[in-house]
Amino acid sequence: MTRFSLLAALLAAAVSTVNAQTSTECQPLTHDCPADPALGTSHTWNFSSNSLLDSTWNVTNGAVDYTDSSLKLSIQKKMDSPTFKSNFYIFFGRMEYHVQAAPGHGVISSVVLESDDLDEIDWEWVGSENTQVQSNYYGKGITLPHTGQTHNISGSTTDAFHNYTTWWDKDKLEWWYDGQLLRTLTYDNATNSSGTWYPQTPMTIRVGMWPGGDPSEPNGTIIWAGGEIDYNAGPYNMYVSQLSAQDFSTGKEYSYNGHSGTWQSINVVAGNSTAEATLNTVHESLAQKWANLSSGSKIAIYASAGGVAAIGLMVLLFCCIKQRRVGKREWNVQNNKFMQERTEMMNMQAEWRQKGYVEMK
Ligand SMILES: *[C@@H]1O[C@H](CO)[C@@H](O)[C@H](O)[C@H]1NC(C)=O
Ligand SMILES: *[C@@H]1O[C@H](CO)[C@@H](O)[C@H](O)[C@H]1NC(C)=O
Ligand SMILES: *[C@@H]1O[C@H](CO)[C@@H](O)[C@H](O)[C@H]1NC(C)=O
Ligand SMILES: *[C@@H]1O[C@H](CO)[C@@H](O)[C@H](O)[C@H]1NC(C)=O
Ligand SMILES: *[C@@H]1O[C@H](CO)[C@@H](O)[C@H](O)[C@H]1NC(C)=O
Ligand SMILES: *[C@@H]1O[C@H](CO)[C@@H](O)[C@H](O)[C@H]1NC(C)=O
Ligand SMILES: *[C@@H]1O[C@H](CO)[C@@H](O)[C@H](O)[C@H]1NC(C)=O
Ligand SMILES: *[C@@H]1O[C@H](CO)[C@@H](O)[C@H](O)[C@H]1NC(C)=O
Repeated sequence: MTRFSLLAALLAAAVSTVNAQTSTECQPLTHDCPADPALGTSHTWNFSSNSLLDSTWNVTNGAVDYTDSSLKLSIQKKMDSPTFKSNFYIFFGRMEYHVQAAPGHGVISSVVLESDDLDEIDWEWVGSENTQVQSNYYGKGITLPHTGQTHNISGSTTDAFHNYTTWWDKDKLEWWYDGQLLRTLTYDNATNSSGTWYPQTPMTIRVGMWPGGDPSEPNGTIIWAGGEIDYNAGPYNMYVSQLSAQDFSTGKEYSYNGHSGTWQSINVVAGNSTAEATLNTVHESLAQKWANLSSGSKIAIYASAGGVAAIGLMVLLFCCIKQRRVGKREWNVQNNKFMQERTEMMNMQAEWRQKGYVEMK
């Protein structure tokens, strides 16, 4: 286990404990539910061992890990199904996912938009079919024939990152692969005289893997998943290097007015979203926390980081402490965001390290 995966596991453990206690699903088609927190803006997350999931996301099952240039999910043993999801909602939008799917029979990688009333917009990859990607959608959780499609693509889904982009507005849904339009679904295509199955309510983003080929799954699922999974041949890894979300609505939160589940019934509550505030302040607060540490703690952190990592950390921190003296405003316009994120994540790790150090004493 690398230092970074240890950190991720700690974060995930802390988060999943909380989740288990507070999970309160509310079905807006039958109940009056609390409003959904909005994203209300656009943001790009570039994941790496120096740029972890921030608090606008929760790991809801298993653990996440990181590489130098991506977030990594793994199936290592029976029934592993690591998943993380956004704490924010998007009410129509454009999502761009840079994904390298996991290989293997029975191994499913997925990126899903899902609303509280179970509208859903999916990308799914079957690990044994690396020249194909599947698109699918659900309206109000109802399974209908022919909503899922399989697309043949050029290149390998499991050997390289590709750009999977979803465009979702009130009139149409599009699935794009590396700049090529694979599929369009219009509102009309998903609507007839008995109703509409067009996804149209505020969605969270969920990224995950699951063993569709586990022997406990129904036959049909195992066949769809490309056969039974061989756990001994794992681990099976899925990678996400970049994720962008553009919320077409701007506001603080989204609430259901009545129980129809139509887009017309969604109230966009004006105000600044918590997610946006978090994204704007997460960097600053971590840097400040570091600055507030006593020099004794900092030395302890250098010591526990050990070797090359400690030297790297010191160089980075020296750079940034010096930089901060130049003034925060100037620092922000340095247009060196990568360096900034890297440093902050180092600080965050340092924070965790410091907690461990304190607890050991
Ligand atoms: C996400 O985790 C945090 C704790 O880290 C918790 O307060 C929050 O309720 C969780 N949110 C969701 C949507 O599960
Ligand atoms: C996709 O490729 C498979 C063979 O690899 C072929 O049988 C199938 O017809 C192709 N589908 C389309 C839509 O081209
Ligand atoms: C990803 O694909 C979308 C849709 O074609 C495109 O708009 C976007 O620019 C692409 N992103 C990158 C980084 O090329
Ligand atoms: C989908 O709807 C569009 C118009 O919105 C129509 O032109 C097209 O034929 C429809 N396609 C299918 C498969 O129903
Ligand atoms: C409308 O579409 C649904 C789902 O495809 C189907 O079950 C239903 O029979 C259709 N109703 C009519 C009146 O065509
Ligand atoms: C489907 O299920 C039957 C009975 O449980 C089993 O004998 C058969 O091997 C299964 N087929 C596949 C492809 O898993
Ligand atoms: C939203 O943020 C802007 C700028 O940060 C601020 O001027 C405005 O007062 C905020 N609005 C609310 C409702 O908090
Ligand atoms: C994220 O990665 C993309 C593509 O590598 C790059 O264009 C963009 O500047 C990066 N954004 C940040 C905030 O690092």
